Amino acid sequence: MRIGLIGYGGVGKALIKLITEKSPALKAQGVNLEVIYIMGSKKGLYNPQGINCAQLLAASKDGQSITIEDTDENREITPEFMLQNKDIDLLVELTSTNKETGEPARSYILKALENKIHVVTGNKGPIVHSYRELAQAAKENGVCLGIGCTCGGALPSVNGGTIEMAGSEVYSIEGVLNGTTNYILKEMEDTGCTYGTALEKAKACGIAEANPSFDVDGWDTAFKLLILTNVVMKQDKKLSDIQIEGITGLTPENIQTARAEGKRYKLIGRTMREGETLQMVVRPEKLDAEHLLYHVDGKNKAVRYESDTLGELTLIGGASGTTAAAASILRDIISICSR
Ligand SMILES: NC(=O)c1ccc[n+]([C@@H]2O[C@H](COP(=O)([O-])OP(=O)(O)OC[C@H]3O[C@@H](n4cnc5c(N)ncnc54)[C@H](OP(=O)(O)O)[C@@H]3O)[C@@H](O)[C@H]2O)c1
Repeated sequence: MRIGLIGYGGVGKALIKLITEKSPALKAQGVNLEVIYIMGSKKGLYNPQGINCAQLLAASKDGQSITIEDTDENREITPEFMLQNKDIDLLVELTSTNKETGEPARSYILKALENKIHVVTGNKGPIVHSYRELAQAAKENGVCLGIGCTCGGALPSVNGGTIEMAGSEVYSIEGVLNGTTNYILKEMEDTGCTYGTALEKAKACGIAEANPSFDVDGWDTAFKLLILTNVVMKQDKKLSDIQIEGITGLTPENIQTARAEGKRYKLIGRTMREGETLQMVVRPEKLDAEHLLYHVDGKNKAVRYESDTLGELTLIGGASGTTAAAASILRDIISICSR
């Protein structure tokens, strides 16, 4: 399988490291991966015979500081060049998320699918904005679109909802889908501190980003809920269909009162079928100890499906961070190779 990688940041670099380390074991399973393009936003590498990833890694101290040299030749290696060449079997798309339009990732993915190239992405932007169009293009061209990494990385929420619930009608999705907010809420519960103090600790540990709004205002949860709803429940919903409330309004008193009642606040994303309509909500909710999502601690994430014939399925866990995200990309690649 000849692979082109667009997006050489934290997850892209972790993926190159993983492919290199796992290569002997993968080959033994009959999975032969050859990376022939690696691209950042301004420069890239191309070797039609396969980039020597081991050499690339050896040139860096820790595998994370691998850089692409800024030469005239490397500046000509662009996604457009790769998509014109059409000499790959699978595109891995790992560029930064454009929350407003999903571009340019949406166009790269669409062009690849139209050229009968499989795609695996971790980027929520194009999937939130254009899932139906992209899934249709994949179907028409007989190729796969792997999106497992977009909804919780290592947590197999997409596979769980599609493969494991196949043939049933999923009528509700409920999840703790954002590790950062879950960490902050647990910190407030354990120490009695304010939201602001817990956020600073999360930033210091590298769990929250410098601008945490996407996480704490509920948008990340809403993006994931939307993807799961459209993919698992076969809907065509939009972000504007979701009522969204984040965790910033919760006080230490709210958290401690819940605790005294034997309950915990969790930022829940929920889609529920109610008669002919779907209710989609993201908001902090007080859960009691009987609820399975009550036990989702720290940075962990979880999703729970309810269906007509297969009953309930709850998935909890999966590692966090760039290596885990890269591993979920690799999982999708292997599943495509095994088809
Ligand atoms: N980090 C995680 O744990 C995680 C988990 C699940 C999903 N994801 C998603 O996976 C994607 C990658 O995450 P990340 O953490 O690796 O992000 P990152 O460190 O910010 O890296 C993004 C990369 O995309 C490149 N890029 C941006 N625009 C581009 C363009 N137009 N053409 C080619 N390359 C472009 C950047 O290039 P330059 O370096 O040249 O600027 C950079 O290498 C994101 O969509 C993210 O939301 C991440």
